[in-house]
Amino acid sequence: MSASSRFPAGFLWGAATSAYQIEGSPLADGAGPSNWHRFSHEPGRTANGDTGDVACDHYRRSPEDVGLMKALGLGAYRFSIAWSRILPEGRGRVNPKGLDFYARLIDLLLESGIQPLVTLYHWDLPAALDDQGGWLNPEIVRWFADYADVAFRAFGDRVPMWATLNEPWVVADAGYLHGVHAPGHRSVPETAVVARHLLCAHGAAVRAYRDCCRQRIGLVVNLEPQEPASEAPEDHAAAARMDSYMNRQFLDPALRGEVPDLLPELFGEAWSPFTPDDLRLAHQPLDFLGVNYYKRGVARDDPAGLLVRARAVSPAGSTFTATGWEVHAESFTRVLCWVKERYGDLPLYVTEKVAAFDDPAPGADGRVEDPARVRYYRDHLRAAREAMRRGVDLRGYFAWSLLDNFEWSAGYAKRFGLHYVDFGSQRRTPKASAHYYREVIRSQGAVLEDPLPVSAG
Ligand code: FCB
Repeated sequence: MSASSRFPAGFLWGAATSAYQIEGSPLADGAGPSNWHRFSHEPGRTANGDTGDVACDHYRRSPEDVGLMKALGLGAYRFSIAWSRILPEGRGRVNPKGLDFYARLIDLLLESGIQPLVTLYHWDLPAALDDQGGWLNPEIVRWFADYADVAFRAFGDRVPMWATLNEPWVVADAGYLHGVHAPGHRSVPETAVVARHLLCAHGAAVRAYRDCCRQRIGLVVNLEPQEPASEAPEDHAAAARMDSYMNRQFLDPALRGEVPDLLPELFGEAWSPFTPDDLRLAHQPLDFLGVNYYKRGVARDDPAGLLVRARAVSPAGSTFTATGWEVHAESFTRVLCWVKERYGDLPLYVTEKVAAFDDPAPGADGRVEDPARVRYYRDHLRAAREAMRRGVDLRGYFAWSLLDNFEWSAGYAKRFGLHYVDFGSQRRTPKASAHYYREVIRSQGAVLEDPLPVSAG
């Protein structure tokens, strides 16, 4: 392999997590409850009734976890702040002990040469705000900007990269349309209102950042390139609707200051129009875009389908992960190129990526063999490099996730981590994929050309 086909020097190699999924101790040291704390404690909301009460106990084990990052050779770590740890009621009173937890974590990362990327909102809303309407209340735009301002003023000097929201599409779709995430609502008109408020809140937080800080801020979205299930014009139209709903709904307002034409049509009477001020607020200059990519979508027309009138189909002959997501590395290249074509040369980071597989517990030799994930890393990192060859300004890659963790409504059943977590003993064991990722980082991608380690071949 030639030196030029390695990832460039300065490419940021990271891993990602989020607060409610790993921290545990959700009410410790004066934290207020979040909507996810409340939701996961309601019967029937999560697989097995699992909650984030203990999760990976990261709240008490963060030094050990930073040690795992160092052993991997990570240059960056993406984590989120639990809003209700630092503002127990969501606004007003600040809880100094909540700030202390993140201050210690940030210091530890910096001492270890690991750059923090902080996400302000990864789905855990203070329950006190949910009681006042949460994302349905227009006041949330100000609540979010005020919370962001507290975080910026506390950590802005030490945190070089911030993300406002993680995957706003999931917040609206899973939380307010399908009801499978907190707060568990099912309403088409609410989905439109929430999406608009999310976009305005994002913009208001970016404005607050520009008032006090000078490093970098961006947005993190999940993207799924959409393809029609057949050549039928109905399926082509279904794929276009899915694309507007999933991919353009948040990016067009945030990066182009416009609403995709198909959206008001899809929502019909349930549409929540943007005022010119909403659009101006949502459309802030960003320093980077974070792309979370898990799979492509293959859409079939379905007149009975909720809102989008389309249904995702599983292509025959493909391989699927433990969450039923198709493995399709070419679509990863494609989606990165699409972002460049449609939105221009904004620096991109892959802020989440990888797959759940049914990993075995550590063997007698202490190893966890996860050959499918090793292969997945190899193929998708090659796909990322291919996008860079085609001119995409990709600056970094964050593996999801550092640790097996609380996978929202799927509870602890789905393992995505580089480290196997035994949730009884809290013992962490690096999987074969962690060893592989470490070698990728050490060789700056050169090992992607080598034959796979035997067990993954
Ligand atoms: C993403 C979420 C992340 C995790 C992965 C598997 O949509 O951002 O928290 O659940 O999926």
